[in-house]
Amino acid sequence: MDERIKIDLAHNWHPFTQMEQLNETPPLLIERAEGVKLYASDGKVYYDTVASWWCNIHGHCRKEISDAISKQAAALDHILFAAITHDPAVSLSKKLCGIAPNGLSRVFYSDNGSCSVEIALKMSAQYWQNIGQTQKRRFICFDRGYHGDTIGAMSVGGIDLYTAHFKHLMFDSIRIPTPYCYRCPMRLEKKTCGCACIEYLEKALDKHAAELAAVIMEPMLLGAGGMIIYPAEYIKRARELTTAHNVHLIFDEVTTGFGRTAKMFAADHANVSPDLMCLSKGLTGGTLPLAATLVTEAIFDAFAGPAGGTETFYHGHTFTANPIACAAANANLALFETENTLANAAYLQARLTEDFESYKTHPLVGDVRVIGCCAALELVKDKTTKEPLSAADMAKIGFYKRGFDHGIILRPVANVVYLFLPLVTVEPDLQEMLNLFRQLMNTVC
Ligand SMILES: Cc1ncc(COP(=O)(O)O)c(C=O)c1O
Repeated sequence: MDERIKIDLAHNWHPFTQMEQLNETPPLLIERAEGVKLYASDGKVYYDTVASWWCNIHGHCRKEISDAISKQAAALDHILFAAITHDPAVSLSKKLCGIAPNGLSRVFYSDNGSCSVEIALKMSAQYWQNIGQTQKRRFICFDRGYHGDTIGAMSVGGIDLYTAHFKHLMFDSIRIPTPYCYRCPMRLEKKTCGCACIEYLEKALDKHAAELAAVIMEPMLLGAGGMIIYPAEYIKRARELTTAHNVHLIFDEVTTGFGRTAKMFAADHANVSPDLMCLSKGLTGGTLPLAATLVTEAIFDAFAGPAGGTETFYHGHTFTANPIACAAANANLALFETENTLANAAYLQARLTEDFESYKTHPLVGDVRVIGCCAALELVKDKTTKEPLSAADMAKIGFYKRGFDHGIILRPVANVVYLFLPLVTVEPDLQEMLNLFRQLMNTVC
């Protein structure tokens, strides 16, 4: 074994990883990355088929972004962002507010998706305190929702496997069924249901509006919950209902933002604007940690008050709006324009839809779901009962290890195996990725 991997196994603790497993399947040692390819120490080349945890947009080591990072690092590396500002943050905020859904006009920076969610929850909670509606302090969230791993983000999460050990630390949220068309909570058919499951949200709002600060949701696509894709009509209705009940709507676009669903933001599928929106991952094109929580002027205004007063939002991080990360984000957004990245995202969606269609006849595939750069297969033991493959079944198949053998990176979520591609992916790499994935699926029966 490579000496560096031995040292890794002796000292590193990897995220979302059963470390014992790494003794059997040691971590890949990636030495270099370019475009959609990762170059490993063993001489093998792997396709980055999960976009480095759903964040890479324009391919790895894009010169335009790397140059912006180097230039900024030489000019101003970091400075506190309390009552001090800098060019990269000024231009980034202007651009973000220009492309964001209408009405989101204020940007609060942080450095990861979980944090952007914590900030949205805290801003919404404090907003109601600041305007004197102190009873409005709870949140509605969704089964299988995922918003990060900090305590607040876990408290509005819906994947018990990740949060069970911390229940005693979490606050109590109101969790409702997800619009999960393949496993419809109302046992209806997607084509004819008329989005009937919005009723769960409506009933929860009717019952709890007086004590509610906000509804938080992943619009169009629940990622970690199993790549669950649902109709735009649901987010449109969610917007109407939250407005009618005087409750904030938070869109967590940490994963869906920046073209992932073939629109700049998932909110754009329904032409709706949330009150608060969380961004990270693709914000820097997947190069540096940066996050942003965007809010309306109405929310921002409720925090006005005297210096040292209780209206102020007492929240911040050392690396808030780091200039180098903001410069990377500016270069990322410039590439969206010069390369027409959204057009390639639409192309990816069409190609993935076409290719994945044939998996419907695979003996283990219960459902095929595609949106933007994301194509997912939900695996079942029995297509009629829809009994999911268990964690043990998935472990036995070992997609992760098999993916390595086939030169692709796969990280299934529960019984769902998926591709989540950098938006820059084009032919012939795309065809090669699809071939490698198909070869692997042909061996899994
Ligand atoms: C929708 C969503 N929100 C929040 C997060 C948390 O982001 P981070 O891992 O940067 O903390 C994720 C991460 O996958 C996510 O998918």
